[in-house]
Amino acid sequence: MSAADLPVEIEHVLVTQEQIAQRISELAAEIDADYAGRNVLLVGVLKGAIMVMADLSRAMSSDPAVDWMAVSSYGVGTKSSGVVRILKDLDIDISGRHVLVVEDIVDSGLTLSWLLRNLNSRGAASVEVCTMLRKPEAARVEVRVKYVGFDIPAEFVVGYGLDYAERFRSLPYVGVLRTTP
Ligand code: IMP
Ligand code: MG
Repeated sequence: MSAADLPVEIEHVLVTQEQIAQRISELAAEIDADYAGRNVLLVGVLKGAIMVMADLSRAMSSDPAVDWMAVSSYGVGTKSSGVVRILKDLDIDISGRHVLVVEDIVDSGLTLSWLLRNLNSRGAASVEVCTMLRKPEAARVEVRVKYVGFDIPAEFVVGYGLDYAERFRSLPYVGVLRTTP
């Protein structure tokens, strides 16, 4: 895509549509192999994970079950605090299930670490995480993310499910938001 085609709010493309597609098929193959002989339940975190869930689940050969949670984390500005409220809970009872949490991005990791404690407390047989993007700060917290699409710099990104004030989720690539002077 040439720069001329980008929305004015997008500074540059960080991960292209082609790179995403390639990485998704690699991750799907890895996950299929790791869960061979076990039924995996993909748990997506709304709304950011919609694109990665749609692509990952279709790239997998094992017909995974899919469920969703919506959580809100109270925070100041764009930083989350780790204080989390469930807006929409799972429909499926996960006790004894092999759960793979599907995330758009792990930034501070606070939301995710709360979510993992919550899911583990429900008696899941296993809980792992697959995230499309991971920011450097995530390395500082104790959350084990088994599958990572791309490690990216600490910049605010949009597209491929990620929003800024509910905009840009449908962009097929991940772009860096232009910071207005
Ligand atoms: P944290 O890991 O608890 O800090 O929060 C992660 C959540 O914050 C993600 O699931 C996103 O919804 C949101 N988020 C973090 N970084 C970005 C970004 O660069 N763009 C858009 N949303 C982001
Ligand atoms: Mg999210």
